[in-house]
Amino acid sequence: MKKIVMLVSGRGSNMVAIAQALAQHSWPAQIVAVIASRADAPAVAAATRMGLPVQVLDARGIPDRSRYDQTLLTLVEQQAPDLVVLAGYMRILADEFVDRFAGRLVNIHPSLLPAFPGLHPHRQALQAGVKVHGATVHMVTRELDSGPIIAQAVVPVGADDDEQSLAQRVLQAEHRIYPVAVRWLIEDRLIFSGQGAWLDEGSGALQALIGSEFTGHDDI
Ligand code: GRF
Repeated sequence: MKKIVMLVSGRGSNMVAIAQALAQHSWPAQIVAVIASRADAPAVAAATRMGLPVQVLDARGIPDRSRYDQTLLTLVEQQAPDLVVLAGYMRILADEFVDRFAGRLVNIHPSLLPAFPGLHPHRQALQAGVKVHGATVHMVTRELDSGPIIAQAVVPVGADDDEQSLAQRVLQAEHRIYPVAVRWLIEDRLIFSGQGAWLDEGSGALQALIGSEFTGHDDI
């Protein structure tokens, strides 16, 4: 059984999508801890409802950043995780944390990276006038939103879209790709080569969700 730790700060819908997929499809993995950076994050209540073990490390209680970072590192290390999943975790991780869990740390960002990293990606996309937008699951490296790309989902942008409608469309796609990408990691199915992370069999096209299905594959 692989051990997963999830870090959350907000709504927790990606956490729920991953936990549901894990339970439904009996992955060889278990979520050993959900660690929240805010006590009032809806993700805390959602994790509790699902019976997941939740720990709150509220940043407001530990204003000293390096102390917070050290405490988080210790908490996560205690779990000896095979994979640390960032699911709407809103704090910048310390370099020491990223280094410690290198190769075991994964994130989802709501844009087609390398386009629109950082804050307000949907606003950035609308301002740029792009016709497709999406989400990217990637390994986490020291540089923000720039680690090896594992999977991407593409959604169309319409003339009537605003930030909210676009975010909603992207979020639905996130809930499709993130569980799949986490499963690939759990099953050691990714090969890291060059700048990317490639699925062991088939082409990179399998790693793109366009519309509602992964391209070229019926049953991932
Ligand atoms: C998602 O859009 C994710 O891509 C970004 O933060 C948001 C988290 O949403 N990193 P949720 O907490 O998973 O609902």
